[in-house]
Amino acid sequence: MNTLYRYAIAALTMLLLSACADKVESLGIVPYPENVEIGCGSFDAFGAKVIAEGLTAEEEDLVQGLGTLITAGSDGKVRSSKIVFSHIDGMDPEEYAIEIGSRRIEVYSSAYNGTLYAIATLKQLMPVEVYTGVYNPDADWNIPCAVIKDKPRFAHRGMLLDCSRHFFEIDEVKKILDIMSVYKLNRFHWHLTDDHGWRMEIKKYPLLTEVGGWRNGTMIGWDAKSNDGIRYGGYYTQEQLRDVVAYAAQRGIEIVPEIDLPAHMVSALTAYPHLGCTGGPYSLMTVWDIAKDVLCVGKDSSFEFIEDVLTEVCEVFPYEYIHIGGDECPKIRWEKCPHCQARIKELGLKDSGKWTAEHYLQNYVTARVQKFLASKGRKVIGWDEILEGDLQPGATIMSWRGVQGGIEAANNGFDAIMTPCEYCYLNYCQSDKPELEPVGFHEYVPVEKCYGYEPLDGIPEDAHHHILGVQCNVWTEFIGTPAHVQYMLLPRMLAISEVQWSAPEDKDYDRFRADVMDHQFEILKSMGYTYCKEIEY
Ligand code: ACM
Ligand code: ZN
Repeated sequence: MNTLYRYAIAALTMLLLSACADKVESLGIVPYPENVEIGCGSFDAFGAKVIAEGLTAEEEDLVQGLGTLITAGSDGKVRSSKIVFSHIDGMDPEEYAIEIGSRRIEVYSSAYNGTLYAIATLKQLMPVEVYTGVYNPDADWNIPCAVIKDKPRFAHRGMLLDCSRHFFEIDEVKKILDIMSVYKLNRFHWHLTDDHGWRMEIKKYPLLTEVGGWRNGTMIGWDAKSNDGIRYGGYYTQEQLRDVVAYAAQRGIEIVPEIDLPAHMVSALTAYPHLGCTGGPYSLMTVWDIAKDVLCVGKDSSFEFIEDVLTEVCEVFPYEYIHIGGDECPKIRWEKCPHCQARIKELGLKDSGKWTAEHYLQNYVTARVQKFLASKGRKVIGWDEILEGDLQPGATIMSWRGVQGGIEAANNGFDAIMTPCEYCYLNYCQSDKPELEPVGFHEYVPVEKCYGYEPLDGIPEDAHHHILGVQCNVWTEFIGTPAHVQYMLLPRMLAISEVQWSAPEDKDYDRFRADVMDHQFEILKSMGYTYCKEIEY
């Protein structure tokens, strides 16, 4: 941040802090910004002129988009009030500052995401019409004078959607990206493959989606002996996936694709049975359970398959991280498989007392895939099971079975993303009365619990830098419709957004809850989302 800018902010802050009668208490912004100073008076944003000075072409598009929204319903009168966007060297790429005076708003950033987030904040200060484009002549367009300086606490602010257990159309995925960008989330973890359906077109292996994309029915509720008899499935073409990548990029979001391996692969084994230890036949799972059948990692052809698939994944998804799963891998097929046992012998893997030879075989798989992806300039993320045994440097851990995986990772020099199920699994109930909730997992994770999560608890200070961020996950075993996904996500994702973005000392559940009920629910409603109202009771 340059000195001139610091002085400008300091001077305006002094000006604004003078006592006045009409000062509002809260700006109602979620996630709460790093620094907010509320002053006297207000800026009438209706029909204000929006100006971009020295921004990139992509940022100019964003700024013009805002201009269109705030002048679309205008009465045509020329106004002298202005919102001026410019760059300041030295600000972080996701940082921004907004000085709201009564005639002019100055917006500062240094890069695309900072500009995007400044606009996201400004929109939260305006009537909900900026989300709908439907104009109400009585709306109040006055924004309180204030100085906002803001940047995120964590770099990875993620949300996972499981599109294997249930398939969601591209437009529904885009609606998730839309709401993520309102709350400044910047990583969409796309769970594209699992035992219940393979969702990404892979040109070299067409049966992955032709066969692996479709299952013969689904269990009903919790009854594992039942089947609804409805063939279920779907998949995304590479063209559709590329379109979503571009759509996400416009919203400041990178996509982390997940190809879950070496377990959670029954959809691939059903399509190509030679990839399994027993040779099959296999069929896609129709019940919510952990499959015993996993990839046979004794055969070189399995690695050829994985490398071919990941090559196409890298062609479609440009983000430097690829998620390679690694969770819930039963070892019983490997224990009996001659190919896997031959591989164990060839590698000289032995039980260590703590971990079995088969655990070390999984380490071998992780390391081999990690090396392959490194040759393409990519890094891997894996679920916390990949820590069991020996993990090669450079892998990032996603801590899901509680916080312990993240703590252990950071203590051992690995980066970690925290998504502990007890705080961040949004497929769990929001109410302590599960009988009043849609059928699903019974664990109870209310909004307040999500909000109270502190991701650096238990991490020594000299390892804090290893915690890249926090993510909420929506697994969809029991979630079959877009409205149900939204209901599980909202408003808990807003609570998680403050865990991801805001400084712990700025968090305040009472303020958050009031802001959600007073204004954020209005935004969600105006944008047409379904959300849970439990927070009101
Ligand atoms: C997971 O929930 N199995 C990562
Ligand atoms: Zn095998």
